[in-house]
Amino acid sequence: MKEYTAEELARFDGKNGSPVYVAYKGVVYDVSGSPMWSGGDHEGMHAAGRDLTVEHDDAPHEVHVTEFPQVGTLV
Ligand code: HEM
Repeated sequence: MKEYTAEELARFDGKNGSPVYVAYKGVVYDVSGSPMWSGGDHEGMHAAGRDLTVEHDDAPHEVHVTEFPQVGTLV
């Protein structure tokens, strides 16, 4: 799997048509297929292109980012 630095991951923030990637526990997921993440914004609270491990564990829902395609690891 491809390795992403935090700087590389930041390019996949869903802006200007880029894919929407989010890192969780060292794995990078592609959430571009979710209408809930369109444009890289989630509920006006979370931005894509970042490691959201801590935030995701506090999210008020049972759905999990791990259900989305893995595209790499965060190094
Ligand atoms: C703490 C603030 C957050 C709020 C208020 C929030 C709210 C929501 C809501 C309302 C949904 C719709 C489904 C449901 O209610 O079960 C959802 C889905 C989802 N959320 Fe969050 N969320 C938050 C944080 C996060 C974080 C930090 C992540 C990190 C990756 C995340 C990942 C997802 C994913 C992957 C889905 C499923 C999208 C889909 O199936 O299309 N959420 N969220």
